[in-house]
Amino acid sequence: MAAYDTETIDSRYHDALVAWQKKNFPELTFLEENWTKFYANQTPFQLYAKIGKLSNNNIVFGRMAGQPRFEKASEMVGNMFYSARDIIRAQASTELGSIQQHRLTLEEAPNDQMKMAVLRIMAEELRHAYQMFWVLSHDHSWKKPGHPDIAEETMDELLSMELGNHVLDAFNIPFSNFLDNVVFATVIDLVGKYQLEMQKVFSYAPMARSMGPMLSEEGFHIGSGRGFVRELAVAATSGSGRYSINDIQRTLNAWIPRGLEMFGNERGGETAVAFGFKDRNNGTAQSEYYNEVREVIELVNVAIVQTKVPGISAPDARTVVREVQDTGERVQGVHSEDLLFVPDMKFYRKRGAEEVVFMPYDVFGTMLTEDSKPISGEKYLEYLKGVLPEYFLKTSEFTKYRDALLGYERPEAGRSYGW
Ligand SMILES: [Fe+2]
Ligand SMILES: [Fe+2]
Repeated sequence: MAAYDTETIDSRYHDALVAWQKKNFPELTFLEENWTKFYANQTPFQLYAKIGKLSNNNIVFGRMAGQPRFEKASEMVGNMFYSARDIIRAQASTELGSIQQHRLTLEEAPNDQMKMAVLRIMAEELRHAYQMFWVLSHDHSWKKPGHPDIAEETMDELLSMELGNHVLDAFNIPFSNFLDNVVFATVIDLVGKYQLEMQKVFSYAPMARSMGPMLSEEGFHIGSGRGFVRELAVAATSGSGRYSINDIQRTLNAWIPRGLEMFGNERGGETAVAFGFKDRNNGTAQSEYYNEVREVIELVNVAIVQTKVPGISAPDARTVVREVQDTGERVQGVHSEDLLFVPDMKFYRKRGAEEVVFMPYDVFGTMLTEDSKPISGEKYLEYLKGVLPEYFLKTSEFTKYRDALLGYERPEAGRSYGW
């Protein structure tokens, strides 16, 4: 028995999403035609909503814990109704945005396996957007008497979003090469996993029922990302790859800060818990995420050491990684520049706790100073040029950061930005 039921959505939105796909993701046909060649044991892709089962019919967290979950949006009152809509909207925007991003550099995939994996990720993100459209469209109570039709308004807005006006910053950054696809699947899809995991408790039942099936698909995205980062790092180490370790490091430096910021302000998130939407506040989820990213990169480093030191066991390789990174010294021919690391949480932040936002922290979390004062914005930009990918500095996302850093344009104060 399948772990979920399937449903299609109202033809008006079904057709609108198919039209969106034809415009933004025409390569879906290629995936469908080649599916069995690559994923023989997996059910071929289909665009429908998957309705999972709830492990508990009651609200688990927050003010209403113990009460039955809400089946209808209209049962959520006041701010709760709109906060739920904002989370669904942000979720759907990430799904659509990531398809637009992946497509830009899809053709640069070093091999067919990587290309197919990215195509499958894109298809599953499309299904996730479809899933969020199901949440909004099957429940007619998103339309309240006297209010505009919130569901319709939200879906129309989502269908018109382009890179640059998606809800979260990470989905407005255009990809420049295939390292972006791979690092994104590793560190940004991982944030997605945390969000979905937390939202299994969602007090609005249709949202909660959507999480399980989406999570099992995210497993493939994250797994592909990790496998390919390792493959590219090993290729870089043996001198056969298209990208160097330094290229990979700079790409990590560009994406991890945006991943951290997707959790919202590290001091917030209590409202989402009080409404029973999530089981953890932002700061807790963010630090769990950060630790997991560190573990992922450590495993990549183990593979790097095993490439450099033939025959070394994984536990011994791990010891070498730790010694090199703790002491900065050369161990068994391995230098710190041969390895990857996760930049500090304070590095290159544009949102979050006040004491880190737009402050000149280096990748190790040390404040860069001059005459015992933080260095100027101009000098920090010079520093960033040395640690971020060159192409990245030309994106409009970086221009926005630069303008805010130099005070040309202050970011909107207090605007909530998380999920
Ligand atoms: Fe997704
Ligand atoms: Fe994903």
